[in-house]
Amino acid sequence: MSRSIVITSGKGGVGKSSLAVCIGREFASRGKRVVLVDTDVGLNNLDVIMNVENRVLYDLSEVMHGKCRLSQALTQDKEQDNLFLLSSKGYQNDIPPEFLKKTVTTLLSKFDYVFIDCPAGIDVGFHKAVSVAKEAIVVTTPHVSAIKDASTVINILKSYSLLRIGYVLNRVRGDMVVSSAMAEVRDITDALEVTPVAVIPENDSINTLSSLGVPLKSNSDGGMAIKIACDNIENGTSTLIDLTKRYKGIMGALRRLIKNKV
Ligand SMILES: Nc1ncnc2c1ncn2[C@@H]1O[C@H](COP(=O)(O)OP(=O)(O)O)[C@@H](O)[C@H]1O
Ligand SMILES: [Mg+2]
Repeated sequence: MSRSIVITSGKGGVGKSSLAVCIGREFASRGKRVVLVDTDVGLNNLDVIMNVENRVLYDLSEVMHGKCRLSQALTQDKEQDNLFLLSSKGYQNDIPPEFLKKTVTTLLSKFDYVFIDCPAGIDVGFHKAVSVAKEAIVVTTPHVSAIKDASTVINILKSYSLLRIGYVLNRVRGDMVVSSAMAEVRDITDALEVTPVAVIPENDSINTLSSLGVPLKSNSDGGMAIKIACDNIENGTSTLIDLTKRYKGIMGALRRLIKNKV
């Protein structure tokens, strides 16, 4: 059965759009048909992260105004044929929630996964994006301000009748967790009171997706974490990669020392 999942956060800049692209590409590589709907008003940048900004011909607003068909506003990813983007540059001002809902319903009949990339904050754009999804994934980093905002968002999400709410802990540094400079996953899970869907490391390839356009290596920590995230999303499980393992013991202490000197 097709699924609509909003990717949200509260705080901006925590990695929603980057992870939407990575997760979308991983599912697409598994043969799933995936569409990313960009509802991040004004700051919409999925096209940039996917490196397809020159390919986008129409956006959701133009579909609504009858300037094109929905299929014409779907931009295919360069890396994965099964992944598409629905850009929404004019979304905030003139797209009523009913039209967004109708669009998502149509997309659900054609795609296995519809991921809705949500704007930061808890304003009207957030509510519009959440109201058209059946499930939610909240992205946070291990920083106190991001966790606080994630917690606020989770409480609001609980007032919607969503089938599932999970969270992704992004930009984790195993060496900092071992040296107690970064919070542990289980403490963040206790604070947020929702199931973790993934722990994603701080990763240069994720950081440079838009600038270098180099695919995430599947055997890197980042690539493995994205694969596990997709397994969890698909199966409703909560298996997490242990990013601290290589920084424990004598060899681990050496690695931490070297990493801190770089
Ligand atoms: N796991 C990660 N490792 C390193 N950099 C990351 C990671 N996730 C996101 N980033 C970087 O963080 C910045 C914000 O990410 P973005 O996906 O635009 O966040 P949001 O959509 O939540 O505003 C971007 O520069 C992105 O490359
Ligand atoms: Mg974004």
